[in-house]
Amino acid sequence: MGNLAVIGMDWGDEGKGKIIDLLMPRFDIVARYSGGANAGHTVSNGGKDYSLHSLPSGVFEESKRLLIGNGFLLALSAYGDKDGLLQEIERMNRVVSLHGRLYVADGAHVILPHHIEADSQGSGVGSTKRGIGPSAEAKANRTGVRVGDLIGIRDHDDYLALRERILRRYDVKDVLKTLYEQRAFLEKLIDGFGVKIVNASKFLNAAFREGSNVLFEGSQGTMLDIDHGTYPTVTSTNSTAGGIYTGLGIPPKQVDQVIGVAKATESRVGDGPFPTEDSYFNVYREGWNEFGATTRRPRRLGWRDGAQLKYAARLNGVDYIALTCLDRLGDVPDRLKICVGYKIDGRETDEWPTGFRDQTVAKPIYRDLDGWHGQDISSARDFNDLPKAAQNYVRELEKEADCYIGMISVGKERGDIIQV
Ligand code: IMO
Ligand code: MG
Repeated sequence: MGNLAVIGMDWGDEGKGKIIDLLMPRFDIVARYSGGANAGHTVSNGGKDYSLHSLPSGVFEESKRLLIGNGFLLALSAYGDKDGLLQEIERMNRVVSLHGRLYVADGAHVILPHHIEADSQGSGVGSTKRGIGPSAEAKANRTGVRVGDLIGIRDHDDYLALRERILRRYDVKDVLKTLYEQRAFLEKLIDGFGVKIVNASKFLNAAFREGSNVLFEGSQGTMLDIDHGTYPTVTSTNSTAGGIYTGLGIPPKQVDQVIGVAKATESRVGDGPFPTEDSYFNVYREGWNEFGATTRRPRRLGWRDGAQLKYAARLNGVDYIALTCLDRLGDVPDRLKICVGYKIDGRETDEWPTGFRDQTVAKPIYRDLDGWHGQDISSARDFNDLPKAAQNYVRELEKEADCYIGMISVGKERGDIIQV
């Protein structure tokens, strides 16, 4: 036992939710460490799917404590048609009680209306318009407002000081009104919904000492990480393993294991390089429900990239890969492909290129593999139950990724999984 991180290896939407759901019974606390409501994590309960944006997965298990870390960019309440934490809790409270088990870090930055407005004017990268980029910018240019700042307000001068901080950089109206509102939202979370404001580092270190096991829930994916992704078409936080330590205030030695989640065919929503993108898959988009969970935009689809997987495995120190949606490849009548490297300006490499220009021009080098068209693999529970071609596909991918594949999702249902 110990603490485990579940991290996306692609551009988000790898099926992290399903893997987290499966592992949940072993853990006492689920912690989100980066991103914000740009995430869309699908959790099933009683045959119904729920899309969570701010709440950690684990909402349905009343014994679990949930933590929103300081690395999280938090929208307290709705703005326009975008729900915030308050609305998400109200919605979930109809199904399961969250009272007293949701903890929010005092260091989390609050997404303010002017951040969402700035984001909806176009980020140039096709963002989710949740204010993520502008609030991360405010965090970095030191005009951000944290949960702890709002809690710490004692008198009018404290409001004025926060207003000063914002106006130093931004020409926005009604700042005081915004601050009163945000403070009221926070009071409602605390008094109305039993949310507790904590120092994430202190909270988790106490939990470790008691022997609690923590699941670190990644959002987005490695290729959207602000440092290691396809910059500038990335999100604004560190979605890779490194984000756990700063996003929660815990030391590296507390992460005992890392599972990387990767999809058997890849997807990307929003702009940016995607070497293996192939319109070949467009006919499957409806059937595979490849639309953004947060924005409903059609996802771009492509072949599995083994070289990119190797990059993501190395970056996160992935112990093993959970490969999702392997069943979908049974829909494909032709031979399958995995990308094993790239041709860039006539030069061949099996390393993921780290510059935007090279990522944009990289032509994938594919290895063709036999498929298993028409065979339903959803009842396979052992690796040897898989058709030989599917076994071979997994083995080839492992070789390219230089990482073990320890879990394979073979269907939609919760139990449709092989633990290798
Ligand atoms: P989960 O956790 C897929 C993408 C956006 C855009 C870029 C920047 O559900 O896998 P942002 O709003 O973060 O400034 O947008 O990142 N993006 C995601 N794509 N899944 C996600 O989260 C994403 N979160 C952000 O589409 O291209
Ligand atoms: Mg998603």
